[in-house]
Amino acid sequence: MNSIDFAKKPVLTGEKVLLRPFEAADGERMLDILSEVDVQRLTGSVHNDEEARRARTAEQEQQIKDWYAGRSAQTDRLDLAIVDQGSGTVVGEAVFNEYEEYSGNVSFRILIGSDGQGKGLGTEAIGLFLQYGFETLGLHRVWLEVYGFNPRAERVYIKSGFVLEGVKREDFRYEGEYIDTKVYGMLRSDYVRSTGK
Ligand SMILES: CC(C)(COP(=O)(O)OP(=O)(O)OC[C@H]1O[C@@H](n2cnc3c(N)ncnc32)[C@H](O)[C@@H]1OP(=O)(O)O)[C@@H](O)C(=O)NCCC(=O)NCCS
Repeated sequence: MNSIDFAKKPVLTGEKVLLRPFEAADGERMLDILSEVDVQRLTGSVHNDEEARRARTAEQEQQIKDWYAGRSAQTDRLDLAIVDQGSGTVVGEAVFNEYEEYSGNVSFRILIGSDGQGKGLGTEAIGLFLQYGFETLGLHRVWLEVYGFNPRAERVYIKSGFVLEGVKREDFRYEGEYIDTKVYGMLRSDYVRSTGK
């Protein structure tokens, strides 16, 4: 497996969404999305609703803006903004992270704010990301984790061709309740089989 150069940040264009490199100005928009209680809950960023509603300090807000301003300079991961082509606004992000050079395996994550959800944007964004990952980057396996209380995300992952690989029982705790974490993966061979490419 040759080393993959994640320094190149592509623009991936679909019918409903466009995935593009982050720009510093996207930080404000991502701050709004990351302030949504459900987004924080479903991505495991907090452990209860009260924590999710707590106002961020100016320093924390700046850290998030700096994070997005720096995404395009990363050479070991790929973070792209998801733009709703209908409105022209950033609705979320999709990420390849934790690249392991020898195996050619990466983790995948995606989040879309409430105003972009349920319109098919996530499904299309995942398809574009997987196509880029397998066909252009030459990845071997893409894996992800999803909490048991997120049937919408699970539905989209299964629809996209991910295969359930295992369950980390009671791996996460939210509002005092234990939640299973499900591990899904897609091998290059799964991708080839499901797309015929
Ligand atoms: C998960 C996420 C990426 C999905 O993207 P999306 O654009 O909202 O999803 P889509 O509109 O493409 O598809 C949603 C699918 O889920 C289904 N769905 C919606 N609610 C559901 C539920 N409660 N149970 C099961 N399926 C559900 C829809 O019917 C649709 O499937 P269909 O096309 O077969 O009818 C997005 O909602 C999101 O980021 N949510 C918040 C953060 C999050 O959950 N991130 C993932 C962490 S693992």
